Amino acid sequence: MNVLIISPGYPADMPEFTRGLAEAGARVIGVGDSGTDSLPGLVRRCLDEYIQVRSLWDTQAVIGELHGRLRGRSLDRVECLWEPGIMLAAELRAHFGLEGQDIEQAHRFRDKEAMKQALDAAGIRTPHHVAVDSVAGCWEAAEKIGFPVIIKPIAGAGSADTYRVDSRDDLRAVLPRLRHVPTVSVEEFVDGEEYTFDTITAGGEIAYYNIAWYRPRPLIARSNEWISPQVIALRDVERDEFADGVRMGFDVIAALGFDTGFTHMEWYRKADGEVVFGEIGARPPGAHQVDQMKYACDFDVFRAWGEAVTRGRLELDIERRYNVATIYKRARGVGRITHMEGADALQQRFGEHVVWNTLLPPGTPRRDWRKTLVSDGFVMLRHPDLAKTLEMADAVGSELHLFAE
Ligand SMILES: Nc1ncnc2c1ncn2[C@@H]1O[C@H](COP(=O)(O)OP(=O)(O)OP(=O)(O)O)[C@@H](O)[C@H]1O
Ligand SMILES: [Mg+2]
Repeated sequence: MNVLIISPGYPADMPEFTRGLAEAGARVIGVGDSGTDSLPGLVRRCLDEYIQVRSLWDTQAVIGELHGRLRGRSLDRVECLWEPGIMLAAELRAHFGLEGQDIEQAHRFRDKEAMKQALDAAGIRTPHHVAVDSVAGCWEAAEKIGFPVIIKPIAGAGSADTYRVDSRDDLRAVLPRLRHVPTVSVEEFVDGEEYTFDTITAGGEIAYYNIAWYRPRPLIARSNEWISPQVIALRDVERDEFADGVRMGFDVIAALGFDTGFTHMEWYRKADGEVVFGEIGARPPGAHQVDQMKYACDFDVFRAWGEAVTRGRLELDIERRYNVATIYKRARGVGRITHMEGADALQQRFGEHVVWNTLLPPGTPRRDWRKTLVSDGFVMLRHPDLAKTLEMADAVGSELHLFAE
């Protein structure tokens, strides 16, 4: 089976997905616009071939270059786990006549307005929403929906250009900042806890799902530098309070006609228990949340995805053993990391539960916390008991400090 994978080296967990696909028996052909030299070693070992194109963002040119390199060899599937490449993958499938997500389906995963319209039609509870492309439209939508509202791009990522607007004054202040966004979605602000529902789906059947809990909600975490955001992959996903969210997750996959691959949905649970859809991507979550799934159940998530792709079905016998918390840290100060405080004491108390630590060592330049959730590194830890997991996560959040100068 010849599988073409778009951007096999980026983002960070793509090398592992490339490995998973190869170990599942596929002949993996990578396509990307960076040089072979810049590919991580694992990717180079797992690819049968790498096709470097001039740019991934010129579909016709990519098609031409692929024909040139494939010389009549056929492809069986095209896969992409990176948000910006989802439409390209669908276009390549259409061109080569392959199964998998088609252009119309891909569009519903990329365009948040089309997504919510499809879900509304299926009777799924989305936030009240209106897509607008003018200042007057924003005012009208906000008045119609009622404050507070959320304004965000219809194809956004990483909470970029996303604002909570509580009043007319807020709206007046925010509008100039949205001038560069052609179409925005104005939405009812849904107050509540925020979770993910992530799946590996094969042949339309959900073979595995994961629920992660954001602490605090991403928009708050992304707007306040002092916060150490946490993502907790939950062990007990069968708790009553998640039943409606899980049901919604299954309904969403069915309504959007998703067939095979990874999905990452976000949803909200209000204080009164009502669940509301947030968004969904036809790809896994980022920021090493797939590794959390691996540590939660001690299984090879990447290979499981590869098997879903190569076989079109997947049977998994997994045991959810742990809650896994990732605590992303942001240093105080600007420049290079100088030192850390609190790490030794925490290591002594909780070291045995830590599965991964990527905190930047002294001397390393700080990362831009607005651009990457991983920020200046993270600590990933796990425990079978949720209360204990949260206690440890909060301690890492509040007692561990990185400094930069
Ligand atoms: N209708 C809403 N009600 C309340 N909060 C919302 C709403 N829409 C978005 N948000 C907040 O803004 C965040 C970002 O919105 P959303 O997930 O739609 O965009 P995104 O930029 O694609 O996010 P990401 O790529 O980080 O997942 C959400 O995680 C949530 O915290
Ligand atoms: Mg989101």
